[in-house]
Amino acid sequence: MAQLWGGRFTKETDQLVYNFNASISFDKKLYAQDIKGSIAHVMMLAKQQILTEIEKEKIIGGLEGILDDVEKGKLEISEKYEDIHSFVEATLIDRIGDPGKKLHTGRSRNDQVALDMKLYTRDEITQIDALLKELLHSILVIMDEHTETIMPGFTHLQKAQPITLAHHLGAYFEMFKRDHERMTDIYKRMNTCPLGSGALAGTTYPLDREYTAKLLGFDGPTLNSMDGVSDRDYLIELLSALSMIMMHLSRFCEEIIIWNSNEYRFVEIDDSYSTGSSIMPQKKNPDIAELVRGKTGRVYGALHSLLTTMKGIPLAYNKDMQEDKEIAFDAIDNVKGCIALFTGMISTMQFRTANMEASAKNGFTNATDAADYLVNHGVAFRDAHGIVGQLVLYCIEKNIALDDMTLEEFKKISPVFEEDIYDAISMETCVNKRVTIGAPGKSAMREVIKIYKQYLREYDR
Ligand code: ARG
Repeated sequence: MAQLWGGRFTKETDQLVYNFNASISFDKKLYAQDIKGSIAHVMMLAKQQILTEIEKEKIIGGLEGILDDVEKGKLEISEKYEDIHSFVEATLIDRIGDPGKKLHTGRSRNDQVALDMKLYTRDEITQIDALLKELLHSILVIMDEHTETIMPGFTHLQKAQPITLAHHLGAYFEMFKRDHERMTDIYKRMNTCPLGSGALAGTTYPLDREYTAKLLGFDGPTLNSMDGVSDRDYLIELLSALSMIMMHLSRFCEEIIIWNSNEYRFVEIDDSYSTGSSIMPQKKNPDIAELVRGKTGRVYGALHSLLTTMKGIPLAYNKDMQEDKEIAFDAIDNVKGCIALFTGMISTMQFRTANMEASAKNGFTNATDAADYLVNHGVAFRDAHGIVGQLVLYCIEKNIALDDMTLEEFKKISPVFEEDIYDAISMETCVNKRVTIGAPGKSAMREVIKIYKQYLREYDR
């Protein structure tokens, strides 16, 4: 097949070389971005009188026709072309003849592909952000319902102190809130237009780069043509932010898998988000949570892969950079799928609140509060710690909770205890006494939920 660049060559490319070099099998995903970029380029060329108005109309008409036909399935993106840029240009020339040959004036595939990837990345950031918003919303709905649902808070996966389900989920709200803010940051930093950088050294045509940038919704043109064609930082930033999203989802999935186990029974994943076993009839497995956790690895892999690809590349464009696409496409598609599925899974999940509360009660999560009670009655903290340690030992032997002890039993270990100990160590007291902002107490949680609701209202502004 004749190449765009065939003029200088006397022999055909070896077929294996051709296949190895070609990117059409994956960069065809960029057809809409490629055409959109070309239309802006042509509008600018005509404005600068590098193309006539008639040529402009013909080329834009042709490009719009190609876009329409690809979208309607009337035109197949043939893999006989080297890349999406060659496909669009050759199809245009086939369809409109000579004016089509002027499309590539003042442009290189190097700035063209840099533009296409930026346009694609920008769209994807917007989509990922919309999915994050839905996820945050689902978390907030659960938080709103469960400011009084007591559960054990853990450190070292050992029961530590009582918290509420709202408080636990609030930690994830914070994580995904930061993920959203990272999307906004990346978008802002990457939003400059590389078109006009040429192959590496700009061009001799009097291009109006400000104008092209504006047509394509960028804040302005890139300010160094070498960097313009070889910057992939924004993709690395995105893959890093996506890795973080996956890390957050994966932690949450890990908890859900534990909570969904027979030993915990804190939650029940809906049938529609569970799978069975081909041999064990009793099984209902948390496969979706496991898969999200599992796919985290491949997103981290994409980040490491692109960092490594970029680390040895001299300025400016080198073909290594073509390797950015498959991994970025795969990571982005997977992250979008994972956020959407995860949101569906938690929105349909049942919370077994009685089991959560019983677990908090039976795990000595109020032991710190029992020690604080003694301190409030004049006992030094270190002594109080020792006394409560004895209480815990006693309870473990009798297989009861602290609250199940009689006052006499309490007094046998320390005479300081009085009837009000029961109120002081009730789960409700333990939680609701903690009301500094960020703590699980109901009044603090309500305050935070109010802030989160306002945050989501302002998300789109
Ligand atoms: N397929 C190439 C890429 O993805 C497009 C740019 C090709 N430029 C070149 N000089 N070969 O990077």
